[in-house]
Amino acid sequence: MPYQEDFAVEQFMDKYETSIVHNMGETCCYSLNLDEVYQLTGEKFSFDGTVRLTYGSIKGSEELRSLVAAMYSNESIKLTKDNVLITNGAIGANFLVNYTLVGPNDHVICVDPTYQQLNSVPKMFGADVDLLELKREDGWTPNLSNLEDLIKPNTKLVVINNPNNPLGSVIPTEQLKKVAALCKRHGIYVLSDEVYAPLFHSCSPPQSFCQLYSRGIITGSMSKAYSAAGLRLGWIVSQDVQLLKDAASRRDYNTISVSQVDDHIACYMLRNRKAILERNLKLCKENLETLESFVASSEGRFSFVVKPLGGAVCLVSVNGIEDTEKFCASLAEDYKVLCVPGEVFGRPGTIRIGYGNSAKDLENALPILQQAYDEWTIKVKISSL
Ligand SMILES: Cc1ncc(COP(=O)(O)O)c(C=O)c1O
Repeated sequence: MPYQEDFAVEQFMDKYETSIVHNMGETCCYSLNLDEVYQLTGEKFSFDGTVRLTYGSIKGSEELRSLVAAMYSNESIKLTKDNVLITNGAIGANFLVNYTLVGPNDHVICVDPTYQQLNSVPKMFGADVDLLELKREDGWTPNLSNLEDLIKPNTKLVVINNPNNPLGSVIPTEQLKKVAALCKRHGIYVLSDEVYAPLFHSCSPPQSFCQLYSRGIITGSMSKAYSAAGLRLGWIVSQDVQLLKDAASRRDYNTISVSQVDDHIACYMLRNRKAILERNLKLCKENLETLESFVASSEGRFSFVVKPLGGAVCLVSVNGIEDTEKFCASLAEDYKVLCVPGEVFGRPGTIRIGYGNSAKDLENALPILQQAYDEWTIKVKISSL
């Protein structure tokens, strides 16, 4: 069996998610139900009762793939359903890209910090993985000369994440173009995990990487920006049709197809995506304002590692508490508030806060976070006397 690291963030969330009351561990925009989608859009969901519940379209329905292709097309790059493969979430999409491209003797470069799957899975497939550290002085985006220094003759794949989880930083188009040009010179594929796109609430939206490079592969899903993680539906988009064919033939072994009903709901929601995105961009913007005023009035207890420009999560320094893993465990167990400790991203002393959930949840949770901080620091002072 290949060596597999524990998936720290998912295991932490799984441990506490059902026992807490206020969820700031959530990474998705506040989940919708179908009645709410109807209220938002004026279109009622229906599923033809005479449709047989067969496997459906294996790669994803033509309508769904065409809707996804249209989201990533622009004046110069016209993508079609053949540029799209439907998967079980972005997590299935990321896995499948690695399964298709990466093996022993390959070298992969992955930004850090990021969602652990992006660097763990290539290792699982036997690749040698180097991390490209994101730094404050580069605006928490990939440093081109550091990236170039990491490239080896066997570098197969560069992995980026835009917007970034956990930082909420966004790589602008000009820099993406430079990454594309560098990787093109070396014949390297680029996987851009764009699962939080198009939640660009505090910056101008960059182009999708699949528009910038013929070997660019992006992954996305219904989970974050479209508030429908429960569909477990995602996609891979690329100009490289052969790569998608290779991915589809590997996918036969572990997916066959996604659920026909989920495919149908995803079509319904993406046909109406404008209204859903408006709701979610507003939600993120307003909740971020709440979070910003909380941080500003926290008298130095908390500070942003970086103010997020996109997505629905950010990393916050918990000043004076180094062991944030223990702090977050106590926060969940004793105060019923879920935040993810920075340790799962290799960043002790920080917590990841998801601000896309309901406004009420955030407003209720933040004062409890501050109370927990104060009680924790008093306890530490007393025990050191
Ligand atoms: C960067 C990133 N990629 C992929 C995923 C998986 O998303 P999905 O629900 O679409 O499988 C997540 C979930 O948190 C994520 O943060």
